[in-house]
Amino acid sequence: MPSGEGQPLLSQLNIRYSREVMGNSDRQSLRSVSSDTSEVAKELRKNLYRTRSSIVAQVGVITFLLYIFYHIMINDIIFFTGHPALNTFAVFALTQSIILVQPTSTAAEKQLGATVHGIFNLISGSAFLGALSIIFINKAAHQGVHFKSAHARLGLVTYVLLLANVLLGITQYWTPYVYGSVNRAKSLYKFHRVIGYVSLGFSFLTIAVSTATGYNKNIFGLKFTVLTGLIIITSIGLVIRIRPQKFQFKFRLS
Ligand code: HEM
Repeated sequence: MPSGEGQPLLSQLNIRYSREVMGNSDRQSLRSVSSDTSEVAKELRKNLYRTRSSIVAQVGVITFLLYIFYHIMINDIIFFTGHPALNTFAVFALTQSIILVQPTSTAAEKQLGATVHGIFNLISGSAFLGALSIIFINKAAHQGVHFKSAHARLGLVTYVLLLANVLLGITQYWTPYVYGSVNRAKSLYKFHRVIGYVSLGFSFLTIAVSTATGYNKNIFGLKFTVLTGLIIITSIGLVIRIRPQKFQFKFRLS
């Protein structure tokens, strides 16, 4: 596991900051800290949209978002519209949170990356929660049956995976002692990564399968082939960026 993940990041940054403060005048130190931060931010921005693979992923996911929002705009806006709108926006924000940290290398990049990753996920999680509330209120209004369609069941699995991963990510980073030690918490980061990719995959799949719902067939009009094409483009960009060494699973043969 590379050094500097999780809590130790905070202390590494503090040491670096203190050295600079001790060696220079306050103003110079502040300037060097802020130029350090802007260098780190520059690297993270590069992750988001300045490499070829990130451009491929962004073209895929932005077109995906625009395609669904086009269908939202050409149809009547009703209470239920919030369900596809918020879910699609949530998947978009989740994709951004993943591209951003794919990968980070220095300790400072990891720390800033983790903070912005958390902010994106907070936005994404709130949108997912809003979308789930809307479908529940909507179903309650006409005594609809829960989790009957393939879309509804896949959606449920997606929400459970997302919730599990949010809890894992937050506790690993902010309260590593619940796993016994910081190192033990760090050794579990690979599970957060795997569940992250799996839950994003399920999110895309759930949206693709929503094309089979009566509402989509009769009113909304999303095309399965268009969605699948855009999901494939996004996935190509994302998969190229995966660093296999970040998934060091140890298997015991005996
Ligand atoms: C990742 C994105 C999405 C997730 C996680 C998701 C999740 C869900 C869940 C869990 C239900 C069932 C709730 C219940 O049975 O109580 C549901 C229902 C529904 N969703 Fe989605 N949804 C997503 C995106 C969309 C999109 C983009 C559409 C647009 C067509 C859509 C259309 C519907 C419809 C029409 C229903 C009601 C019919 C049914 O229960 O199958 N959903 N969704």
